[in-house]
Amino acid sequence: MNQPVPTVMLGFGAEQLGAVNAVLGDNANVIYQNREVREGLAQLVPLQPQAVLLFFSPDDIRLVLQFARRARHDAPNAALILVSTHESLEATREAVRLGARAVVVLGMDDRDLLSTFEQLRREVHETVATGTVVSFMGAKGGMGTTSIALNVASALAKDSRNRVLLMDFALFIGEVGVYLDMATPYTLGEYVRDIGRLTDDWIDERIPRHRTGFFVLSQPPEVNEIAAIEAHQIVAAVAASKRFFTHIILDAGAGISEASLGGINTSDMGIIITTQELPAIVSTGRRVNLLTQLHGDRTRIRVVVNRFQSKGATKARIEQYAGHGVSATVCNDYASMSRCIETGQLLLELAPDAEITTDISKLIRLFDDETTVETKTRKKLFGLF
Ligand SMILES: Nc1ncnc2c1ncn2[C@@H]1O[C@H](COP(=O)(O)OP(=O)(O)O)[C@@H](O)[C@H]1O
Ligand SMILES: [Mg+2]
Repeated sequence: MNQPVPTVMLGFGAEQLGAVNAVLGDNANVIYQNREVREGLAQLVPLQPQAVLLFFSPDDIRLVLQFARRARHDAPNAALILVSTHESLEATREAVRLGARAVVVLGMDDRDLLSTFEQLRREVHETVATGTVVSFMGAKGGMGTTSIALNVASALAKDSRNRVLLMDFALFIGEVGVYLDMATPYTLGEYVRDIGRLTDDWIDERIPRHRTGFFVLSQPPEVNEIAAIEAHQIVAAVAASKRFFTHIILDAGAGISEASLGGINTSDMGIIITTQELPAIVSTGRRVNLLTQLHGDRTRIRVVVNRFQSKGATKARIEQYAGHGVSATVCNDYASMSRCIETGQLLLELAPDAEITTDISKLIRLFDDETTVETKTRKKLFGLF
């Protein structure tokens, strides 16, 4: 079976979003949605979806046709589908002239909408986004989230077929540049603004690359610059990155911000990093609940216990408290970790044969286990914004 159709939905309220999702089921993969059509249209160039659904009220017919024209221009390969609650002859006529794939009235033409998507699913879409997005979040601060995210990125980059992007979403406390001891003149803030210009060459030229091979987007240095990044832009930037990278690793930190939630919301998998201490285990339960609400299901959540020692709480006990299975553990190795920080190196460079390096490198197997592949098709983007 072909992959679900990468879809952008613009102008839909929560209720209509629910109605369309119910009709389309597994056939659509909503990579981005925005109630504000204008804001959302600005993201079409980087996203290059296979389908654009534009919701309109027949009273705004002029405006919607203007939007539709813009959508055709910015995402020429996308199937444009206009969705309304009432029939409008004028809209239908104009939409056909514009090259729209369909004009549907919700509740009346649901079958047509579905069959259009079933058809789209059989068609080949050149710009299909294939990258996997994995977010790492700490049950609390200091769990080792950044250390693990960075070392996972370098483990992935070891395979030259992979193109890996690490995004630092631990807003205001992002330390990725410090841990890597590298200059990161080009930041997440600029990336979010430049997203319409992405090409492979452009990425090679601008985005700083760690010597182990992964690309790095760190925090902007200025607080007001961070504040200027809107959650919907983050969602679009992550979704657009899937076209250019095989893996996008987000260090979402431990704090909950609109931006980190936006990133997590777009992820194929959310990995919670915790330790064996009781407060951490209890917070893990809360994070599991939060991610379950965001994703709509628990199957894309993984719990990893860091600094695992045999004398601490057992896996079974952690699972009981956290209310979720533990997928993997990473051993405690203070000596290697502190030498990494002191020398600005990663584990694969400094201690390639250490147990901790193997433990962290093995985490990449979590990304392609079967449950993920299976649930990926059920993915829905929930209306946070
Ligand atoms: N498996 C481990 N064994 C020993 N120390 C670790 C381990 N993982 C992380 N650390 C140390 O814990 C501290 C916090 O790590 P960090 O990655 O900054 O956490 P976070 O991003 O969750 O705040 C650092 O000093 C790091 O070296
Ligand atoms: Mg951190």
